[in-house]
Amino acid sequence: MVNTLDDSFVTEGTWKPNLFKGKVVLVTGGAGSICRVQTEAMVLLGARAAIIGRRKEATVEAAEEISKLGEEGCVLPVYGVDVRNFEEVKDAVAQTVAKFGRIDYVIAGAAGNFISDFQHLSPNGFKSVVDIDLLGSFNTAKACVSELQKTKGAIIFISATLHYYGVPFQAHVGAAKAGVDALSNALAVELGPLGIRCNCIAPGPIGDTEGLKRLVQSGLKDKLITMVPLQRLGKREDVANTTVFLFSSAASFVNGSISVVDGGAWHIGTHF
Ligand code: HXC
Repeated sequence: MVNTLDDSFVTEGTWKPNLFKGKVVLVTGGAGSICRVQTEAMVLLGARAAIIGRRKEATVEAAEEISKLGEEGCVLPVYGVDVRNFEEVKDAVAQTVAKFGRIDYVIAGAAGNFISDFQHLSPNGFKSVVDIDLLGSFNTAKACVSELQKTKGAIIFISATLHYYGVPFQAHVGAAKAGVDALSNALAVELGPLGIRCNCIAPGPIGDTEGLKRLVQSGLKDKLITMVPLQRLGKREDVANTTVFLFSSAASFVNGSISVVDGGAWHIGTHF
């Protein structure tokens, strides 16, 4: 997959060049769609990045492509890592520190999803998603906390809006994401005194994502757009811009927040 962002994100965007020069971001799910573009933005603004994934090919390919946006060797692929396994995440953190010497920011983005009604959702199906989304976020934060304490860093958890109401066929994801919000809120309070900020981003309907592909049949996309107050789908760049803000010093007093990036959709009952 080619990069979504290019130099114009810096030259024509909101953020000053080299905003994150010298900083290191660790991203789980960084080869995926939303987290991929979050990583691109961070690298375009001078950060180095470690992207942590399960699949070798996808992770290496994404790292090679994203590194074209920054200095040579600025993106480290760490593959064979399932966020459900704490030891594997811990090892990925060690590899990141061995390569870059520090971790300033963490995006806990690895997620799993499929549509299933409750009657057909097996206990293992429910557990798989809760484990990837919630236990995976816990494992990532836990494995990174001592490095973040050194750098007075920040974590962004990736949540959703679908648990604000009951959304059918998404009991597993809604339960997992509600837990992610709760985890972020608790860690914001516990880790704040250590100088670590924790916030969530809750994306709504974002175009060109694996989530949208899995949840919305292509024929329903136009209808979905009419159900978003801003009358468009989100772009992955919208989530990237929120990420840059939350990691920047402009957000130095923002802790325990949930930034909903959904064009106002959930307020009128449009969930995704
Ligand atoms: C019902 C299903 C199913 C489906 C899997 N399962 N797909 N049940 N309908 N379509 C069940 C399986 O039958 C099995 O239960 C259990 O889930 C585990 O499946 P595995 O394939 O063995 O697990 P695993 O390899 O760990 O895969 C996890 C996964 C998979 C979540 C099921 O889809 C995955 O790895 N996804 C990662 C990529 C992804 O989903 N990206 C989308 C992220 S978007 P049994 O009982 O048979 O053993 C996103 C947006 C969130 O997260 C926001 C939404 C608003």
